Amino acid sequence: METTEVVLPGIVEPSGLQLRTRDLPPPAPGQVLVTVEASGVSFAEQAMRRGRYPGQPKFPFVPGYDLVGVVHSVGAGVHAALAGRRVAAMTKTGGWAQHVLLPAGDLVAVPDGLDPGDAETLVVNGVTAWQMLHRTARVQPGQTILVHGANGGVGVTLAQLARLDGIRVIGTANPRHHDALRAFGVVPLDHADPQLADRIRELAPGGVDAAFDNLGGEHLRRAWRLLAPGGALVSYSIAAHEKGPMVPAFLATLARLAVWNALPNGKRASFYDLWSGRRDLAKFQARTRKDLTAVLSLLAEGRITAQVAARVPLSRISEAMTLAEARTVPGKVVVVPA
Ligand SMILES: NC(=O)c1ccc[n+]([C@@H]2O[C@H](COP(=O)([O-])OP(=O)(O)OC[C@H]3O[C@@H](n4cnc5c(N)ncnc54)[C@H](OP(=O)(O)O)[C@@H]3O)[C@@H](O)[C@H]2O)c1
Repeated sequence: METTEVVLPGIVEPSGLQLRTRDLPPPAPGQVLVTVEASGVSFAEQAMRRGRYPGQPKFPFVPGYDLVGVVHSVGAGVHAALAGRRVAAMTKTGGWAQHVLLPAGDLVAVPDGLDPGDAETLVVNGVTAWQMLHRTARVQPGQTILVHGANGGVGVTLAQLARLDGIRVIGTANPRHHDALRAFGVVPLDHADPQLADRIRELAPGGVDAAFDNLGGEHLRRAWRLLAPGGALVSYSIAAHEKGPMVPAFLATLARLAVWNALPNGKRASFYDLWSGRRDLAKFQARTRKDLTAVLSLLAEGRITAQVAARVPLSRISEAMTLAEARTVPGKVVVVPA
Protein backbone atom coordinates (compact mmCIF):
# COMPACT_ATOMS: atom_id res chain seq x y z
CA MET A 1 0.00 0.00 0.00
CA GLU A 2 1.40 3.38 -1.01
CA THR A 3 1.18 6.20 1.52
CA THR A 4 1.95 9.89 1.49
CA GLU A 5 3.23 11.31 4.78
CA VAL A 6 4.63 14.53 6.18
CA VAL A 7 8.28 14.64 7.22
CA LEU A 8 9.70 17.09 9.73
CA PRO A 9 13.32 17.18 8.53
CA GLY A 10 14.78 19.28 11.35
CA ILE A 11 14.18 22.63 13.04
CA VAL A 12 12.43 24.41 10.17
CA GLU A 13 9.72 26.97 9.58
CA PRO A 14 6.27 25.46 8.80
CA SER A 15 7.08 25.91 5.10
CA GLY A 16 9.99 23.45 5.57
CA LEU A 17 7.68 20.48 6.23
CA GLN A 18 8.04 17.94 3.41
CA LEU A 19 5.71 15.42 1.78
CA ARG A 20 7.03 12.01 0.78
CA THR A 21 5.43 8.92 -0.68
CA ARG A 22 6.55 5.40 0.18
CA ASP A 23 5.27 1.83 0.21
CA LEU A 24 3.98 0.37 3.46
CA PRO A 25 4.37 -3.38 4.04
CA PRO A 26 1.23 -5.39 4.88
CA PRO A 27 0.34 -5.34 8.57
CA ALA A 28 2.59 -7.61 10.67
CA PRO A 29 1.07 -9.99 13.24
CA GLY A 30 -0.85 -7.92 15.80
CA GLN A 31 -0.91 -4.87 13.54
CA VAL A 32 -3.59 -3.11 11.53
CA LEU A 33 -3.36 -0.80 8.53
CA VAL A 34 -5.46 2.32 9.13
CA THR A 35 -6.57 4.79 6.46
CA VAL A 36 -6.37 8.14 8.21
CA GLU A 37 -9.48 10.35 8.04
CA ALA A 38 -8.28 13.03 10.45
CA SER A 39 -5.20 13.95 12.42
CA GLY A 40 -4.42 17.35 13.89
CA VAL A 41 -1.93 20.01 14.92
CA SER A 42 -1.51 20.09 18.68
CA PHE A 43 0.91 22.07 20.81
CA ALA A 44 3.25 19.05 20.76
CA GLU A 45 3.94 19.31 17.01
CA GLN A 46 4.57 23.03 17.37
CA ALA A 47 7.14 22.30 20.09
CA MET A 48 8.70 19.44 18.08
CA ARG A 49 9.14 21.75 15.08
CA ARG A 50 11.33 23.91 17.30
CA GLY A 51 13.13 20.87 18.76
CA ARG A 52 11.61 21.76 22.15
CA TYR A 53 9.49 18.72 23.00
CA PRO A 54 11.23 16.64 25.69
CA GLY A 55 11.83 13.11 24.41
CA GLN A 56 10.96 13.82 20.75
CA PRO A 57 12.55 11.47 18.18
CA LYS A 58 15.69 12.41 16.27
CA PHE A 59 15.02 14.29 13.00
CA PRO A 60 13.79 13.43 10.42
CA PHE A 61 10.47 11.92 11.53
CA VAL A 62 6.76 11.99 10.74
CA PRO A 63 4.81 14.03 13.32
CA GLY A 64 1.16 13.50 14.26
CA TYR A 65 0.17 12.85 17.87
CA ASP A 66 -3.25 11.27 17.32
CA LEU A 67 -5.66 10.27 14.60
CA VAL A 68 -9.04 8.92 13.60
CA GLY A 69 -9.35 6.55 10.66
CA VAL A 70 -10.84 3.39 9.25
CA VAL A 71 -9.19 -0.03 9.52
CA HIS A 72 -8.20 -1.09 6.01
CA SER A 73 -6.70 -4.51 6.73
CA VAL A 74 -5.46 -6.57 9.67
CA GLY A 75 -2.40 -8.71 10.36
CA ALA A 76 -2.30 -12.25 11.71
CA GLY A 77 -3.85 -12.64 15.14
CA VAL A 78 -6.13 -9.61 14.77
CA HIS A 79 -9.89 -10.13 14.56
CA ALA A 80 -10.93 -9.76 10.90
CA ALA A 81 -14.16 -8.00 11.96
CA LEU A 82 -12.03 -4.95 12.79
CA ALA A 83 -11.69 -4.20 9.06
CA GLY A 84 -13.95 -1.31 8.08
CA ARG A 85 -14.34 -0.02 11.66
CA ARG A 86 -13.71 3.64 12.52
CA VAL A 87 -11.08 3.89 15.24
CA ALA A 88 -9.03 6.45 17.14
CA ALA A 89 -5.44 6.14 18.33
CA MET A 90 -2.77 8.09 20.17
CA THR A 91 0.45 7.74 18.22
CA LYS A 92 2.72 10.52 19.62
CA THR A 93 4.34 10.65 16.15
CA GLY A 94 3.47 9.26 12.74
CA GLY A 95 -0.16 10.37 12.42
CA TRP A 96 0.37 12.90 9.60
CA ALA A 97 -0.01 10.31 6.87
CA GLN A 98 -2.54 8.83 4.47
CA HIS A 99 -2.14 5.33 5.92
CA VAL A 100 -0.41 4.09 9.07
CA LEU A 101 0.48 0.74 10.60
CA LEU A 102 -0.52 0.50 14.27
CA PRO A 103 -0.67 -2.14 17.01
CA ALA A 104 -4.28 -3.37 17.16
CA GLY A 105 -4.22 -2.97 20.95
CA ASP A 106 -3.80 0.81 20.59
CA LEU A 107 -7.12 1.26 18.77
CA VAL A 108 -10.25 2.64 20.39
CA ALA A 109 -13.62 2.32 18.62
CA VAL A 110 -15.24 5.61 17.59
CA PRO A 111 -19.02 5.64 18.20
CA ASP A 112 -21.17 5.50 15.06
CA GLY A 113 -22.35 8.78 13.64
CA LEU A 114 -19.45 10.90 14.87
CA ASP A 115 -17.62 13.09 12.39
CA PRO A 116 -13.97 11.91 12.26
CA GLY A 117 -12.61 15.47 12.48
CA ASP A 118 -14.74 16.24 15.52
CA ALA A 119 -13.66 13.00 17.19
CA GLU A 120 -10.02 13.75 16.41
CA THR A 121 -10.05 16.92 18.52
CA LEU A 122 -10.88 14.80 21.57
CA VAL A 123 -8.38 11.95 21.33
CA VAL A 124 -5.24 13.18 23.15
CA ASN A 125 -7.09 16.23 24.47
CA GLY A 126 -9.92 14.05 25.77
CA VAL A 127 -7.76 11.40 27.42
CA THR A 128 -5.53 14.05 29.01
CA ALA A 129 -8.42 16.12 30.34
CA TRP A 130 -10.41 13.12 31.58
CA GLN A 131 -7.47 11.52 33.37
CA MET A 132 -6.24 14.72 34.99
CA LEU A 133 -9.74 15.54 36.26
CA HIS A 134 -10.91 12.08 37.33
CA ARG A 135 -7.77 10.04 37.94
CA THR A 136 -5.13 12.54 39.10
CA ALA A 137 -6.98 15.38 40.88
CA ARG A 138 -10.18 13.38 41.53
CA VAL A 139 -12.33 16.52 41.64
CA GLN A 140 -15.81 16.17 43.14
CA PRO A 141 -19.12 17.82 42.12
CA GLY A 142 -19.54 21.21 43.76
CA GLN A 143 -15.81 21.88 43.99
CA THR A 144 -14.01 24.77 42.28
CA ILE A 145 -11.07 24.38 39.91
CA LEU A 146 -8.62 26.69 38.19
CA VAL A 147 -7.77 25.86 34.57
CA HIS A 148 -4.91 27.72 32.89
CA GLY A 149 -5.18 28.05 29.10
CA ALA A 150 -8.88 27.22 29.35
CA ASN A 151 -9.39 27.95 25.65
CA GLY A 152 -6.69 25.48 24.57
CA GLY A 153 -7.39 21.97 23.28
CA VAL A 154 -6.89 20.26 26.64
CA GLY A 155 -8.17 23.25 28.64
CA VAL A 156 -11.54 23.60 26.93
CA THR A 157 -12.13 19.84 27.13
CA LEU A 158 -11.28 19.78 30.82
CA ALA A 159 -13.60 22.75 31.40
CA GLN A 160 -16.48 21.06 29.58
CA LEU A 161 -16.01 17.75 31.42
CA ALA A 162 -15.85 19.55 34.76
CA ARG A 163 -19.00 21.60 34.10
CA LEU A 164 -20.88 18.38 33.24
CA ASP A 165 -20.09 17.16 36.77
CA GLY A 166 -21.26 20.36 38.45
CA ILE A 167 -17.73 21.61 39.11
CA ARG A 168 -17.17 25.37 39.08
CA VAL A 169 -14.44 26.34 36.60
CA ILE A 170 -12.32 29.48 36.76
CA GLY A 171 -10.45 29.58 33.46
CA THR A 172 -7.59 31.85 32.45
CA ALA A 173 -7.35 32.90 28.81
CA ASN A 174 -6.77 35.83 26.52
CA PRO A 175 -9.84 38.13 26.74
CA ARG A 176 -10.67 37.44 23.08
CA HIS A 177 -11.74 33.95 24.19
CA HIS A 178 -13.80 35.02 27.21
CA ASP A 179 -17.25 35.03 25.56
CA ALA A 180 -16.70 31.52 24.21
CA LEU A 181 -15.63 30.34 27.67
CA ARG A 182 -18.68 31.93 29.32
CA ALA A 183 -20.85 29.97 26.88
CA PHE A 184 -19.30 26.79 28.35
CA GLY A 185 -20.16 27.99 31.85
CA VAL A 186 -16.57 28.95 32.68
CA VAL A 187 -15.73 32.05 34.74
CA PRO A 188 -13.00 33.59 32.54
CA LEU A 189 -10.08 35.68 33.77
CA ASP A 190 -7.31 37.36 31.79
CA HIS A 191 -4.09 35.36 32.18
CA ALA A 192 -2.09 38.59 31.73
CA ASP A 193 -3.92 40.51 34.49
CA PRO A 194 -1.28 41.60 37.07
CA GLN A 195 -3.99 41.24 39.76
CA LEU A 196 -4.92 37.72 38.65
CA ALA A 197 -4.23 36.11 42.03
CA ASP A 198 -6.50 38.65 43.79
CA ARG A 199 -9.25 38.04 41.22
CA ILE A 200 -9.07 34.29 41.86
CA ARG A 201 -9.10 34.82 45.64
CA GLU A 202 -12.24 36.98 45.28
CA LEU A 203 -13.94 34.12 43.44
CA ALA A 204 -12.63 31.36 45.72
CA PRO A 205 -11.79 32.91 49.12
CA GLY A 206 -10.98 29.50 50.63
CA GLY A 207 -8.76 28.54 47.70
CA VAL A 208 -9.41 26.34 44.69
CA ASP A 209 -9.85 22.59 45.11
CA ALA A 210 -7.68 21.78 42.12
CA ALA A 211 -5.54 23.69 39.62
CA PHE A 212 -4.40 22.52 36.18
CA ASP A 213 -1.34 24.23 34.73
CA ASN A 214 0.21 23.91 31.26
CA LEU A 215 2.42 26.99 31.51
CA GLY A 216 4.90 26.47 34.37
CA GLY A 217 7.12 29.03 36.13
CA GLU A 218 5.25 31.79 37.93
CA HIS A 219 1.89 30.45 36.68
CA LEU A 220 2.59 27.17 38.48
CA ARG A 221 3.84 28.86 41.68
CA ARG A 222 0.76 31.09 41.83
CA ALA A 223 -1.55 28.12 41.31
CA TRP A 224 0.12 26.30 44.22
CA ARG A 225 -0.38 29.32 46.49
CA LEU A 226 -4.08 29.52 45.51
CA LEU A 227 -4.88 25.90 46.41
CA ALA A 228 -7.28 25.19 49.25
CA PRO A 229 -6.11 22.86 52.03
CA GLY A 230 -6.37 19.33 50.64
CA GLY A 231 -6.31 20.70 47.08
CA ALA A 232 -4.50 19.15 44.11
CA LEU A 233 -2.13 20.89 41.71
CA VAL A 234 -1.70 19.12 38.38
CA SER A 235 1.12 20.37 36.17
CA TYR A 236 1.19 18.99 32.65
CA SER A 237 3.50 21.21 30.60
CA ILE A 238 5.79 24.21 30.82
CA ALA A 239 4.62 25.87 27.61
CA ALA A 240 5.47 29.39 28.76
CA HIS A 241 9.16 28.42 29.03
CA GLU A 242 10.10 29.71 25.61
CA LYS A 243 13.76 30.67 26.16
CA GLY A 244 16.60 28.42 27.32
CA PRO A 245 16.87 24.63 27.22
CA MET A 246 13.73 22.62 28.01
CA VAL A 247 15.13 19.60 29.83
CA PRO A 248 16.69 21.44 32.83
CA ALA A 249 13.54 23.57 33.17
CA PHE A 250 11.40 20.46 33.05
CA LEU A 251 13.53 18.66 35.66
CA ALA A 252 13.43 21.73 37.91
CA THR A 253 9.62 21.70 37.65
CA LEU A 254 9.47 18.03 38.63
CA ALA A 255 11.79 18.69 41.59
CA ARG A 256 9.66 21.64 42.73
CA LEU A 257 6.48 19.54 42.54
CA ALA A 258 8.15 16.78 44.59
CA VAL A 259 9.21 19.27 47.28
CA TRP A 260 5.73 20.82 47.47
CA ASN A 261 4.12 17.40 47.59
CA ALA A 262 6.24 16.46 50.61
CA LEU A 263 5.14 19.52 52.62
CA PRO A 264 2.87 18.64 55.55
CA ASN A 265 -0.02 20.90 54.48
CA GLY A 266 -2.35 18.34 52.91
CA LYS A 267 -1.97 19.78 49.43
CA ARG A 268 -0.95 17.49 46.57
CA ALA A 269 1.25 18.37 43.61
CA SER A 270 2.02 16.12 40.66
CA PHE A 271 3.02 16.07 37.02
CA TYR A 272 0.56 14.34 34.73
CA ASP A 273 2.09 12.27 31.92
CA LEU A 274 -0.26 10.78 29.36
CA TRP A 275 2.21 7.99 28.60
CA SER A 276 2.97 6.92 32.16
CA GLY A 277 2.27 3.27 32.86
CA ARG A 278 2.92 2.20 29.26
CA ARG A 279 5.44 -0.37 30.49
CA ASP A 280 2.42 -2.44 31.55
CA LEU A 281 1.06 -2.18 28.02
CA ALA A 282 -2.17 -4.17 28.38
CA LYS A 283 -3.21 -2.17 31.45
CA PHE A 284 -2.27 1.12 29.76
CA GLN A 285 -4.27 0.25 26.63
CA ALA A 286 -7.30 -0.83 28.68
CA ARG A 287 -7.23 2.41 30.69
CA THR A 288 -6.87 4.54 27.55
CA ARG A 289 -9.72 2.66 25.87
CA LYS A 290 -11.99 3.13 28.88
CA ASP A 291 -11.28 6.84 29.28
CA LEU A 292 -11.37 7.74 25.57
CA THR A 293 -14.59 5.76 25.13
CA ALA A 294 -16.13 7.78 27.97
CA VAL A 295 -15.15 11.07 26.31
CA LEU A 296 -16.22 10.05 22.78
CA SER A 297 -19.56 8.81 24.16
CA LEU A 298 -20.18 12.24 25.69
CA LEU A 299 -19.41 13.79 22.29
CA ALA A 300 -21.79 11.37 20.56
CA GLU A 301 -24.52 12.23 23.08
CA GLY A 302 -24.00 15.94 22.41
CA ARG A 303 -23.02 16.61 26.03
CA ILE A 304 -19.65 18.07 25.04
CA THR A 305 -18.72 19.75 21.77
CA ALA A 306 -15.67 19.51 19.53
CA GLN A 307 -13.70 22.68 18.86
CA VAL A 308 -12.48 22.58 15.25
CA ALA A 309 -10.54 25.66 14.13
CA ALA A 310 -10.25 24.54 10.50
CA ARG A 311 -9.94 21.43 8.34
CA VAL A 312 -6.83 21.55 6.17
CA PRO A 313 -5.74 18.85 3.68
CA LEU A 314 -2.56 16.90 4.45
CA SER A 315 -1.03 18.27 1.23
CA ARG A 316 -1.28 21.78 2.76
CA ILE A 317 0.29 20.85 6.09
CA SER A 318 2.44 24.00 6.19
CA GLU A 319 -0.72 26.12 6.18
CA ALA A 320 -2.22 23.96 8.91
CA MET A 321 0.88 24.45 11.07
CA THR A 322 1.03 28.20 10.42
CA LEU A 323 -2.63 28.61 11.32
CA ALA A 324 -2.29 26.59 14.54
CA GLU A 325 0.80 28.51 15.60
CA ALA A 326 -0.89 31.88 14.99
CA ARG A 327 -3.22 31.00 17.92
CA THR A 328 -5.87 33.29 16.42
CA VAL A 329 -8.62 30.77 15.64
CA PRO A 330 -10.24 28.94 18.56
CA GLY A 331 -10.13 25.14 18.48
CA LYS A 332 -7.82 22.55 16.97
CA VAL A 333 -6.60 22.62 13.38
CA VAL A 334 -7.65 19.25 11.97
CA VAL A 335 -5.69 17.69 9.11
CA VAL A 336 -7.86 15.81 6.60
CA PRO A 337 -6.93 13.64 3.60
CA ALA A 338 -5.33 15.49 0.70
N1 LIG B 1 1.62 15.96 30.10
C1 LIG B 1 0.92 15.36 29.16
O1 LIG B 1 0.79 14.15 29.14
C2 LIG B 1 0.26 16.19 28.10
C3 LIG B 1 -0.75 15.64 27.28
C4 LIG B 1 -1.33 16.45 26.32
C5 LIG B 1 -0.94 17.79 26.20
N2 LIG B 1 0.06 18.25 27.00
C6 LIG B 1 0.50 19.65 26.92
O2 LIG B 1 -0.60 20.45 27.21
C7 LIG B 1 -0.39 21.73 26.69
C8 LIG B 1 -1.67 22.17 26.00
O3 LIG B 1 -1.80 21.43 24.82
P1 LIG B 1 -2.90 21.83 23.76
O4 LIG B 1 -2.70 20.96 22.58
O5 LIG B 1 -4.19 21.93 24.46
O6 LIG B 1 -2.37 23.30 23.38
P2 LIG B 1 -3.14 24.54 22.79
O7 LIG B 1 -4.46 24.10 22.21
O8 LIG B 1 -2.18 25.26 21.94
O9 LIG B 1 -3.47 25.41 24.09
C9 LIG B 1 -2.46 26.09 24.80
C10 LIG B 1 -3.16 27.04 25.78
O10 LIG B 1 -2.21 27.69 26.61
C11 LIG B 1 -2.36 29.12 26.50
N3 LIG B 1 -1.08 29.82 26.60
C12 LIG B 1 -0.86 30.94 27.31
N4 LIG B 1 0.44 31.31 27.24
C13 LIG B 1 1.03 30.42 26.44
C14 LIG B 1 2.36 30.29 25.98
N5 LIG B 1 3.34 31.13 26.35
N6 LIG B 1 2.65 29.29 25.15
C15 LIG B 1 1.67 28.42 24.79
N7 LIG B 1 0.37 28.48 25.21
C16 LIG B 1 0.08 29.47 26.02
C17 LIG B 1 -3.00 29.33 25.15
O11 LIG B 1 -3.73 30.53 25.17
P3 LIG B 1 -3.80 31.52 23.90
O12 LIG B 1 -4.00 30.67 22.68
O13 LIG B 1 -4.93 32.43 24.19
O14 LIG B 1 -2.50 32.22 23.91
C18 LIG B 1 -3.91 28.11 25.06
O15 LIG B 1 -5.07 28.32 25.81
C19 LIG B 1 0.81 21.64 25.75
O16 LIG B 1 1.91 22.23 26.37
C20 LIG B 1 0.98 20.14 25.57
O17 LIG B 1 2.29 19.79 25.29
C21 LIG B 1 0.65 17.49 27.94
